Amino acid sequence: MRISIIGAGYVGLTTAIGFASKGHRVIIIDTDNDKVNLIRRGKSPVWEEGLEVKLLDFVSNQGNLEATSDYQKILDTEMSLICVGTPSNSDGSINLSNIEDSVKKIGKVLSKKTDYHVVVMRSTIIPGTTKHLIIPLLEEHSGKKVGEAIGIAVNPEFMQEGKALQTFLKPDRVIIGEYDQRAGNMVLEISQDFGAPIVRTDVTTAEMVKYASNAFLATKISFINEMGNICQRLGIDVYTVARGISYDYRIGERFLNAGVGFGGSCLPKDVRALIASSKKHGYQPQLLESVLAINEAQAKKIVEIAERKLGSLLNKKITVLGLAFKPNTDDIRNAPAIPVVNMLVEKGALITVHDPKAISNARQVLPENVSFGNRVPEAINGSDCVLILTEWDEYRDEGLYQGKTVIDGRRALDPQKARELCDYHGICW
Ligand code: UGA
Repeated sequence: MRISIIGAGYVGLTTAIGFASKGHRVIIIDTDNDKVNLIRRGKSPVWEEGLEVKLLDFVSNQGNLEATSDYQKILDTEMSLICVGTPSNSDGSINLSNIEDSVKKIGKVLSKKTDYHVVVMRSTIIPGTTKHLIIPLLEEHSGKKVGEAIGIAVNPEFMQEGKALQTFLKPDRVIIGEYDQRAGNMVLEISQDFGAPIVRTDVTTAEMVKYASNAFLATKISFINEMGNICQRLGIDVYTVARGISYDYRIGERFLNAGVGFGGSCLPKDVRALIASSKKHGYQPQLLESVLAINEAQAKKIVEIAERKLGSLLNKKITVLGLAFKPNTDDIRNAPAIPVVNMLVEKGALITVHDPKAISNARQVLPENVSFGNRVPEAINGSDCVLILTEWDEYRDEGLYQGKTVIDGRRALDPQKARELCDYHGICW
């Protein structure tokens, strides 16, 4: 199929490469010319293991992936997938300005198209958005009726950063929310060879499936962090408890790693947006509010442990290992490390940070007096305390921390081995 992908961010780019690798002809459309030029040279605007090699191959060798800032190129395609960002407003609700902008532009171009075209919402949008905003906007700007000349479907993505292409190509499930059956059938056509269960439903339910998935994952993490906080007071290792409960097939083993909490561009933002939307509809979502409150408290906890160990943090040398919100990405959006570093700096600590990939992103948001270490031994040399906030493999060598005070926010180290070599503390174990 000939597919246009709107938005060359993380989701758009991975989606484009994913469909190109399935043999489709893909055009990425983004208004940011710098990103377009990078992609044309086979360079990825986001860092993700293996992504750039694939990109280069499709752009340069196979020739089935191109990038442009020209929306008119939609006319050469049968389907447009909207993958633009939906950031948060200050009240937690989602900001739909990028979505509105792209839908208006698509609508204008589609006013000139004679064949049927399907518009697919892949960005995460709060339930009701397609029905109450996207469809009226598309009809207004195209002058056509949605469900007749233009089809609409919602096909949420469930990729995980760090293994984006892998999770794109092997999804656990495919959700097709369709306004008209023809649109649903076209999404089915490009999805059925993924070999995943397919749920066909209406557009609003499909939008909700995405939020319910991320809200559930966030709840699992806050649940195990709460267990960890209780376990710590009772002298119990929550990781053993997690293993014990994981064999119950109704619970499962995934997303039960207690630690400094969840970050990233999705879980915190989506839970906040769902809270804002449900309040707007007259429901107070107490569980989701607690999920966020527990998460925010975990970051503060790590600073409290440092204070308990070191006393006043004024002029204490502290090394923070790991800034990305999880390993194998350079993404620092909502990463717990950022508020932790800010809190430590406010308390007068002298901070050195290290991250294998996220340093250049972190430089833009961290206070100026933070030092950046190039290598792990150099970053921890001479420090009074080491905090591990992202479980990169290179931090997992207990031998690095001989004689140090270590506060492990991610259970990166083996507690038994670590205790033999250093003054080792877990955030909730
Ligand atoms: C998340 C979802 O997992 C994906 O299914 C979804 O497609 C994606 O959001 C999205 O909406 O686009 P992602 O943000 O890439 O994916 O990251 P996760 O792997 O979910 O990790 C989120 C955070 O939770 C990280 O900070 C991680 O360290 C933390 N986490 C994860 C824990 O603290 N404990 C765990 O057991 C698992």
